[in-house]
Amino acid sequence: MPEPVTTPEPTDHPEIDTSVPHSARIWNYWLGGTDNYPVDQAAGDAYTAVFPGIVTIARGSRAFLRRTITYLVSEAGIRQFLDVGTGLPTAQNTHEVAQGIAPDARIVHVDNDPMVLAHARALLTSTPEGATAYIEADATDPDRILAASAETLDLGRPVALILSNILGHVADHEQARSIVTRLMGALPPGSHLCLNDGSLGVDPVFEQAQDAYNNSGAVPYVLRTVGDITRFFDGLELVDPGVVPVTRWRPDPGSPTPEVAEHGGLARKP
Ligand SMILES: C[S@@+](CC[C@H](N)C(=O)[O-])C[C@H]1O[C@@H](n2cnc3c(N)ncnc32)[C@H](O)[C@@H]1O
Repeated sequence: MPEPVTTPEPTDHPEIDTSVPHSARIWNYWLGGTDNYPVDQAAGDAYTAVFPGIVTIARGSRAFLRRTITYLVSEAGIRQFLDVGTGLPTAQNTHEVAQGIAPDARIVHVDNDPMVLAHARALLTSTPEGATAYIEADATDPDRILAASAETLDLGRPVALILSNILGHVADHEQARSIVTRLMGALPPGSHLCLNDGSLGVDPVFEQAQDAYNNSGAVPYVLRTVGDITRFFDGLELVDPGVVPVTRWRPDPGSPTPEVAEHGGLARKP
């Protein structure tokens, strides 16, 4: 039996550890949000002191997410989304972009951070025609994610799986690949994989900052080569322009397209 979808109540605030920096909260800080603590701000500032480009990467990632969702809804006809490692609510969350174009879109958000659960109500504001849900679950337990998602999504119809800056938190490459394989394997033809992660071998200063971050007490995030990121899409049909720096995936006309050490792509399951 699928476990019930977790829907937080206003008073349902689990223990939030403010003594160690958390990925979701540091990311929120770099995105200009306020859902973060001094420990996260200190870790974020230590990082930008070495590598200020992380802010361009964080914001470029969110813009990539917006453009890929727009493509999925407008051009690929996708109406169902499974966003794993969704992060703290920010501007233009997955459900807002999707339902802004197709009000009947259905979105499941997944994260394992108690702070994201505490703020999940902002991820649950749905149009009447569509649906949203939040599942507190770990990416390393894809079976639980699929079972709980089935309460909101019709897994017999195409789904877009979003893995944005999450697989770096799964250090073992084979385990990361098996998560993608298990989740995509459960979705029907016509489903899509949207994936982006920090890339190795592009910018040595980024790698230096990331090494320091990984020793700061935060949950480590490993960078992967562009080849390893591309192999997550094995067996799928990459949508043009393939796996590229996120800033260069179908950029908005006239927007800057710097080369960033953050690669992503979108692919269709045949
Ligand atoms: C860097 S943030 C990315 C947020 C958002 N996807 C984006 O790209 O803007 C990474 C997110 O993954 C979540 N996360 C990390 N490890 C996870 C795991 N094992 N299972 C589920 N979520 C995880 C963190 O809590 C955080 O919200």
